[in-house]
Formats: sequence, structure tokens, C-alpha cells
Amino acid sequence: MRSHGCGDLRADQAGQQVMLCGWVDRRRDHGGVIFIDLRDRSGTVQITVDPELGAGDAEFSAAFEAAGHLRHETVIQVSGAVRSRPYESINDNLKTGAIEVLASSITLLNAVKGNLPFPVSVHDEENTREELRLKYRYLDLRRKRMNENLRLRALTIRTARASLEAEGFIEVETPVLTRSTPEGARDYLVPSRVCGGEWFALPQSPQLFKQLLMVGGIERYYQVARCFRDEDLRADRQPEFTQLDMEMSFMDQEQILGLNEKLICAIWQAVKGIELPRPFPRLSWHEAMERYGSDRPDTRYGLELVNVSDLVADMGFKVFSGAVKAGGAVKVIAVPGGNEAISNVRIKPGGDVFSEAQKAGAGGLAFIRVREGGEIDSIGAIKDNLSEASKAELLERTGAQPGTLLLFGAGDTATVNKALDRVRQYLAKELGLVPKDRDNDKWNFLWVVDFPMFEFNKDENRLEALHHPFCAPNPDDLGSDPAQWAANLPTARAQAYDLVLNGLELGGGSLRIHDSALQRQVLQTIGLPLEEANRQFGFLMDALDMGAPPHGGIAFGLDRMVMLLAGEESIRDTIAFPKTQQARCLLTQAPADVASKQLEELHVASTWVEEED
Ligand code: AMO
Repeated sequence: MRSHGCGDLRADQAGQQVMLCGWVDRRRDHGGVIFIDLRDRSGTVQITVDPELGAGDAEFSAAFEAAGHLRHETVIQVSGAVRSRPYESINDNLKTGAIEVLASSITLLNAVKGNLPFPVSVHDEENTREELRLKYRYLDLRRKRMNENLRLRALTIRTARASLEAEGFIEVETPVLTRSTPEGARDYLVPSRVCGGEWFALPQSPQLFKQLLMVGGIERYYQVARCFRDEDLRADRQPEFTQLDMEMSFMDQEQILGLNEKLICAIWQAVKGIELPRPFPRLSWHEAMERYGSDRPDTRYGLELVNVSDLVADMGFKVFSGAVKAGGAVKVIAVPGGNEAISNVRIKPGGDVFSEAQKAGAGGLAFIRVREGGEIDSIGAIKDNLSEASKAELLERTGAQPGTLLLFGAGDTATVNKALDRVRQYLAKELGLVPKDRDNDKWNFLWVVDFPMFEFNKDENRLEALHHPFCAPNPDDLGSDPAQWAANLPTARAQAYDLVLNGLELGGGSLRIHDSALQRQVLQTIGLPLEEANRQFGFLMDALDMGAPPHGGIAFGLDRMVMLLAGEESIRDTIAFPKTQQARCLLTQAPADVASKQLEELHVASTWVEEED
């Protein structure tokens, strides 16, 4: 149907007859001459329909008549001759801007019948409400932004595949109808018609199957794997998302991290043309929490947290000393130039900085302003209760200069970290420390290593796995005597690692447990009685007992990776058909009602009661 792509024509094709197909991006009528911007996936080209050139020709007259009525997004086929544009009308912004196609015939392939809900043309792209974009996603996909994002996604996957295959990995598909895997979110469940009363769970990740593939001798597995998690949604979370998932046998942690750095470098090279420096920096989980209050710190800017608990432990200012005595912490962020940039009103109740801390559970923020000559100012009792020696140490430790604002968090350590992490990120944006320019991105990769195996779940009053319960503990913490495992496990570090990029968790993985006794012990540590552990994970423990090799792996959030590569702020803009924050597909209106007959066949009765208005 066509000889060329619209966007592929150049000046050296001048004089050639061409046949093009595409969508009417725009149409302009300039005193009788009609200009059509014709768009296909390769780009746009200007079609010129000049009544003087084809006068008397019946086919041309029909084309001219048709051109006069073409609505935006009509699908047409055009034949004509490529012509160089006169010098003054060359459009440098368009790849095809040096030429135009003089139409001799136009065939309507499909009309646009109703009103378009929003303009599709590259010229009018911004500011369309997201609900509309999602409801008419096929129109949104026609636009340059989404079209480019999907291509970038495909290139990312293609490069990952090539890079992994070159290392001997093979792609293996794992089941989507399976049983629940404990990754920490709620499951999407599928009732079985054949096995009445029983349910499949959609996989939160291929975790157990990829471990079984290692027992199966595959040694190097990867998969572009769809995962399903019923959890609260955010800009970087979808109920259905894609992992670049892998697992490998007979490799230690260093080798796994090295191989993955190579993979990431290959992707950044292919997609951005950037040579990333290797090795990527590393921080232990403990140090990340101490210096940033977060296990996925954004290291593109400073504003680090400084622990001053020891300096204030005995001071008269009870908010500080009380927090330390209760086993908590006092930490401070030094904001250079903060005296000028941030007024008292913003830090006190009702202020924007205050409310950031409050949203993270803190009661408030104490502060000190450092003046000329190292004098300090504070509202309330901090200043008067700080000895000269402590003051000097405080300034020294925080690197404070005249003009610096010191913001303090005091309380239980987790809350202080959470609040100051939030304040740190907020201030970085407010103070312009985060590069906004898409082309001027800093790529601060960071491995966070040595995570704890478990964290305490206050609501359920039990330990739970920080990653998942298949991560191998660090042998130095576990000890070699199995009799000590139960006692040592709760405080042990895991051989687990996360890859963080600019404050976002891009991926995570670990070495796995390949000893069934240790696996049982870990499951018991998170509160699964032995019998229950055997019932749920007996198949895994059996497999571990039949020659499981030492193995480990990692999974990257592919949607997140593409989001960062594309400079987007939401993973919805990297997925062809995403769901809304309410986990709904606006295009197909899923989830939706089903016929009661279907439910009967599935042995399911609904307890849902329609809420009254
Ligand atoms: P984890 O749960 O850390 O690890 O997931 C790996 C990566 O997947 C991405 N991710 C998500 N992306 C979009 N929407 C979501 N709802 C979502 N949840 C997670 C993140 C995350 O880093 N089986 C382990 C991996 C392993 O141990 O090998 C796992 O799934 O980028």
C-alpha cells in the first residue's frame, strides 16, 4: 500500500513518485493550496495539494475535493511526487522539512466519524487529562510521546535479552496460574472451576519457580515476567507490572552484582548512549539508614542526616535528651543557605516543611540558625541548653557555616529517619538540587547491601522477612552450628542487595537458601509453624533436598527502568495499557460484573453489597 514511510523522505528523493499511508495530523488551507501533515510511525511529511498544478485532471480534482474535507486523524493513502521545497519554506524542525509531496491522488482508507476526545497531533500533545488519555489509549498511543516510550521500552528489553543471552542465560516462562508466593502484597486470586473451592494465585513474582529452575539444572535463567500485586498504588506501582527477572547458580554475590552492572551499562549505552562508570557505589543498609534515613537514598544531592544523639543525650532540652534516653535518636539535616531560603513560618506548625515531617509521623522539627561568627539562634530552649563544647561539636559534625539552617528530628529512630528522609527529599526539590532537565540527568546508581533478614511487624507482633523468606542469611551472622540458628537468625544480615537509582528502587535480589533445614528455620522465624511451612512450601524443601545448587538472583522493575530512561514521572507512561490508581482499566472498564452463571460454575458466591449513595 505504500512505497515509503512518511518520515523517511529526504531531498535526494526529489523527483520520485511515492505512495504513502498515514493519519492526517493537521490540515491547513492557504488560499486554495491545501497542506496536509501526513503522519505514520516514521514521522510526518507535508503533502501539498495545489489546484493549479493538476487543473483539468479528473483524478486530481477528486483529490483536491477530498483534501478540502479531511478531518484530523482520517486515514488516507496519497500518491504524488517528491519535490524540494523552496529555500524560504524549508522547515528545519522536521526531518522531512526540506521536501514536500505534491499529491496527484488521495484515497480515503477510513474516516473519523465522531468527535475526537482530544487532539492527537504532536503539536497539541500536552495537558490532556490522564483519564481521557487512558480511556482512549489507542489515540494516546498514536502520539509522539507514548509512541517513543513504547519504542524505548522495546529497545530496553531487546538489549537486556541480547546482553543476558550473550552470558549464557536462557529465557524460560513460568506459570501465571500458580499458588501464592509471599512477596508481601495481597494476591490476585483465580477460582478453579474444575477443583471446586480451590484457588490459584497470580504470581507476585516468579521467585519459587526460578529457584526450582536452578534445581532443574538451568543454571542461568531470565524472563521478562508479568507480576501481579494487589497493593496500594503510586506513581511507580501498578497492580500488573513487568520484571526483568533472573536467577543463576554457582555464582557468589560479587559475581552477580558484577554481571548486573554489565547488563545495566549495556542498556544505558543502547538507550541513552551513555558510558556509565563502574563499579557502582555501595552502601550497607545500616549506613544508608544512618546517613539518609532511607534504604533507597537519592545520592544526587547532599543534605545528609547527621546523628547527634550522643551530643544531646544529657542536655536540659527534654525533647532531645528524652528521645535518646527512650532508646531513640536525634538527627539533624544541615541546609546550607537555609537561613535565607527557609523562613521560620515554613518550619513551624502549619508551614510546608513542618507538614512534610508531620506526614511522616513526626511531631515537628526543632531548628537552629547559624549566624555570622558561629553564633546560633533558636526558638525555644535548644540554644540555652547547649554547652559551648557541644555547640562547637555540632557545628563541626554538620559542617555548618554562617547562613546554615539546622533541622532536627527527635524521637524513635524509625520515625526520625522517615521524617527527615521526607524533609530531605522535599527540600532538595524546593532548593532546586534535583536536576529537572531531561537531558541533563545524573544517573546515581547505588547498591544497597547487607539488609537485615527481618523487620518487626508491630501490628502482627512478629518478625517478617524484609525481602522474602528465601534470602540466605550472612554465614558470619548465622554461625556454623545449626543449634544456634534459631537464636542468631532474628538479628542476622541477609545476603541481599537492592539497586537504587536516583532515589528509586530499581531492583532487588539475594543469594538464596539451598539447605532445607535452614529454610524451615527461617519460615519458623517469621511465625509459620513447622506443619504449615511444610504444607505451603513442602515442594520447595523437597527440591532443596534433591541436589539444589547454591544460587541467587535479582529482579528489576522494567516499567520503572523505562520510566527513568524516558524521563517520565509515572510508570503508567511506560505501559501500553496501564491501570488507574484505583486499579481499573478505563479503556475496557475492567474489572467488571460477570454473569451469575459464571460464578456458580466457579463455586463462588459474592458477599459484595452495593454502597448506598
Ligand atoms: P521485589 O519485590 O523487590 O523482588 O521486586 C523487584 C522489583 O520490581 C519492581 N516492583 C514493581 N514495579 C511496579 N509496580 C509494582 N507494584 C512493583 N513491585 C515491585 C521494583 C522492585 O525492585 N522475587 C524478588 C526478586 C528476587 O529476589 O530475585 C522480587 O520480586 O522495581
